[in-house]
Amino acid sequence: MNTRGMKIGILTAGGDCPGLNAAIRGIGKTAMLEYGMRLFGFSSGYSGLINNDFVELTENQLSGILTVGGTILGTSREKPFKKSKHKNHIDVQTKPEKIMQNYSNLELDCLVCIGGNGTQKTANLLSEQGLNVIGIPKTIDNDVWGTDISFGFDSAFTIATEAIDRLHSTANSHNRTMVIEVMGHHAGWLALYSGLAAGGDLILIPEIPFKEEKIIEYIVKRYAMKKYYSIVVVAEGISPNKGVSAASYIGELINQGTGFVTRDTILGYLQRGGTPTPFDRILATRYGAKAAEMIAHQEYGKMVALNGQELTCIPLSEAGSKTRLVEPDNSIVRKARHLGTSFGD
Ligand code: F6P
Repeated sequence: MNTRGMKIGILTAGGDCPGLNAAIRGIGKTAMLEYGMRLFGFSSGYSGLINNDFVELTENQLSGILTVGGTILGTSREKPFKKSKHKNHIDVQTKPEKIMQNYSNLELDCLVCIGGNGTQKTANLLSEQGLNVIGIPKTIDNDVWGTDISFGFDSAFTIATEAIDRLHSTANSHNRTMVIEVMGHHAGWLALYSGLAAGGDLILIPEIPFKEEKIIEYIVKRYAMKKYYSIVVVAEGISPNKGVSAASYIGELINQGTGFVTRDTILGYLQRGGTPTPFDRILATRYGAKAAEMIAHQEYGKMVALNGQELTCIPLSEAGSKTRLVEPDNSIVRKARHLGTSFGD
């Protein structure tokens, strides 16, 4: 097939994460240099597609962005298929209709949507409307269904691990229980991996229901074994009360239940900013390059994925339908339990 002059639209949607620019560069350079395609970047996720806000990207604009955090295109959490509570009477077209119109006016051959769960769900709905769509999974939460790993996760997990490593100093020196909260939305991957990598004593994730008394019992038992400090890693998704952070809920629980001094740290947006790790640079580059190859072969309606070491793809209908959560009997969880790590259950 002659790919020269094919027009590719690209957008980044959802929360920013390290590796987005590496993915844009990966697809863009492959599309332009290998296949002679043209690349159009939509700004701020699906908002740019609705508002027809785009620029044609040149190869020069893709140079020097590999290591840069965030996304040169901007992002947003716009969900075009979500029913709006406030009807805008000025608009004659719905958001999906505007997208269809803009795609057709620009004569795009394909749209590449880089994002997490929500993004892949929307990508699938656009594909069902007849657009040629390809998804690329990114998220620090690692919860996109159908791929072993999304880019962004390795960087966030590395940052969280380093942060927990540093908390050991204060925990140890002051005999304190340090509670650190990491992101992850409804998934516990970040807490599990960073907790294990940094030697967390107690790891609490949404997928493994904990009992308050077990947490207290465990910390007291450590004290009795002359382990006067503890590192507690909590996923943000475990808090039963939306208004209270997971870290302050667990810190308070331990302090009240044991009388030991606790300190909370919420890592927050630090874990998704800045330069991607080498692993994420390579993964995002491979995902981008694979997407360009898929366009050249007209393999639409699919999301790029990693299965073991192998780069592959799965139907968007599958990727957009589920969330990838930690199985409670996951082998990493089992191994951690063998080391004496508690999951509070
Ligand atoms: O999905 C990525 C993520 O960073 C989650 O871990 C977190 O719950 C959420 O985004 C925060 O979203 P926002 O950027 O809208 O505050």
